[in-house]
Amino acid sequence: MDNSNKRPETMERITNAELANAFIEEQIEALKKQIGDKKVLLALSGGVDSSVVAALLIKAIGQQLVCVHVNHGLLRKGEPEQVIDVFRHQMNANLIYVDAVDRFLDKLAGVSDPETKRKIIGAEFIRVFEEEARKLDNIEFLAQGTIYPDILESVGVKAHHNVGGLPEDLKFELVEPVKLLFKDEVRVVGKALGLPDSMVYRQPFPGPGLGVRCLGAITRDRLEAVRESDAILREEFAKNGLQGKVWQYFTVVPDFKSVGIKDSKRTFAYPVIIRAINTKDAMTATVENVPFELLQHITARITSEVENVNRVLFDLTQKPSATIEWE
Ligand code: XMP
Repeated sequence: MDNSNKRPETMERITNAELANAFIEEQIEALKKQIGDKKVLLALSGGVDSSVVAALLIKAIGQQLVCVHVNHGLLRKGEPEQVIDVFRHQMNANLIYVDAVDRFLDKLAGVSDPETKRKIIGAEFIRVFEEEARKLDNIEFLAQGTIYPDILESVGVKAHHNVGGLPEDLKFELVEPVKLLFKDEVRVVGKALGLPDSMVYRQPFPGPGLGVRCLGAITRDRLEAVRESDAILREEFAKNGLQGKVWQYFTVVPDFKSVGIKDSKRTFAYPVIIRAINTKDAMTATVENVPFELLQHITARITSEVENVNRVLFDLTQKPSATIEWE
């Protein structure tokens, strides 16, 4: 396998199924040669990159791939279920599902500083993954969804990862089959590998997940409010043709309450903030002009369907002055 981290100038851009299939065939051969009859470990988040790497490796080495999906409780609604459904049930992958929800939320209890939250989530993720790795025998390789922008150290979202790495005695040889691909190429390859559109075309989602959208110290009630309101927003954007058109959209729940009224009774509950932005490189961003009627419809749904919420706000701020995320 070519271990160069430089994309050859002659390498054609993968823009269609035919080119994707040629890439897949080539990689399968290279992966078989690199890995032989050994085992490979992969942290499978359900994001585009790790999912494409998993699907490629399943084709190349089948059960020699061990996928570990860590549910840290900060994933979006339906995500762990989709990973299990696609990889365990449809692709017959060797998948270990780790329910680490309580563990993460206990560690995060009372922590309000955003960077400390990120560090705790990253470090705990490594710890859980390490524990799983130690239970397994004969693993010689670690697969990673590194893509070309990560290598170029551009502003790819992984530049935010600050998670350190596995301890010395668990340093495996790396398998990075999509490291020379750009994001759009990874998507074309994912589609050719038969991954569902909802996985292949999904919007960027930060590693610390909903943890940085449940502002301040994370509480279970507000975390559920973020998860449920995000699910409603995504459903409505999909129904109204905005999925795939808007670069990133999500909800945020701050750690303060305001007064409201429901069934003639005073309420004291959280607001939900909607953010919908467009950008090319995440360095600057503009706000999507979401139709007012749709915003009102989403507001009505969130305030009636999501517990502990009595108000919905729309974030009108570009980047700069705001960042895309709130934390
Ligand atoms: P900001 O908020 O810095 O976000 O304008 C730019 C892009 O990066 C994503 N983001 C993250 N991704 N870990 C990640 O993997 C993080 O800690 C993180 N923080 C922000 C954000 O969603 C946006 O796409």
